[in-house]
Amino acid sequence: MNTKIKNIGVMTSGGDAPGMNAAIRAVMRVSHFHGVRVTGIIGGYAGLINGQFLDLDMNAMANILKSGGTILKTGRSREFLEVASRKQAYENLQKSEIDALVCIGGDGSFRGAHTLTEETGAKCIGIPATIDNDIYGTDYTIGFDTAVNIALDAIDRIRDTASSHDRLFIVEVMGHDSGFIAVDVGVAGGAEEIFFPENPIAIEDAIDHIKRGIARGKKSSILVTAEGKKPGRAYDLAEAIRKRAGFEAKVCVLGHIQRGGAPTARDRILASRLGAYAVEKLIEGVSDIMVGLQAEKLVTHKLASVIGKKKQIPNELIKLAQILSA
Ligand code: F6P
Repeated sequence: MNTKIKNIGVMTSGGDAPGMNAAIRAVMRVSHFHGVRVTGIIGGYAGLINGQFLDLDMNAMANILKSGGTILKTGRSREFLEVASRKQAYENLQKSEIDALVCIGGDGSFRGAHTLTEETGAKCIGIPATIDNDIYGTDYTIGFDTAVNIALDAIDRIRDTASSHDRLFIVEVMGHDSGFIAVDVGVAGGAEEIFFPENPIAIEDAIDHIKRGIARGKKSSILVTAEGKKPGRAYDLAEAIRKRAGFEAKVCVLGHIQRGGAPTARDRILASRLGAYAVEKLIEGVSDIMVGLQAEKLVTHKLASVIGKKKQIPNELIKLAQILSA
């Protein structure tokens, strides 16, 4: 029987990601299993600073497994960057007798949790959730699989209209400044070119590529681009291609559509496993860590060792993407 942790706080932070609710549910159910109370923190770090806390019971978990978004709300708090706000947050945790905090979010959220631990000794644990999949120390983040599948569905639909009209399309996917979504969607959707920051290609090379396709009899193409400055936003790429080669491209920016809707089975399972593991680790007395999944095994990493580190897209996948799109 666990005697130290009696009340776990759970919050979602940063951009919402499908599967966050499944993680909240797992935290709640596994805590309940161990006789631990759960308090929901509403609105991420802003809620921690303002003391917006809510006792969660099993009824609050009804039917949330299949819902996108987060029942706890989320956000990015500039205020939490200040020492005084973090002190206030810690005092709120103490007042509400919250012994440990589960933070479901991305890199910025983990930075906040780690700093809070360093400054106050608060027990924090991170669960990686972002559609970008850009967290070091875990093969996948919660929400990534759903985002990829939503974008893939869009590409499949665009393929129909592109081929009916013999058109060139440029589809922009999210990913902040990483190309995980672009590469997976590009490979799965058979994109004729994938622009992403980890392997920048010159616009001239992309144009040559399109021309080679046309010479082979290809009448329509889909280029996928990762948002962000480096590869270039879809409208900028379309303009550059029009100016240099005279090709007119239709642009489709998928945007926040990729963040909504029911999580895939993979995301629900990942979220459930990570949520459960986080609670077990807190009960064991571990904190200031992130839980993750690597090579199908649950792992932990010190928060300080993952924050700010760049996760690499496997070289083999980058090469494959090039070969398959050629
Ligand atoms: O980090 C998730 C993400 O969706 C990124 O892919 C994107 O760059 C960003 O959040 C968008 O943030 P916001 O919802 O604040 O516009």
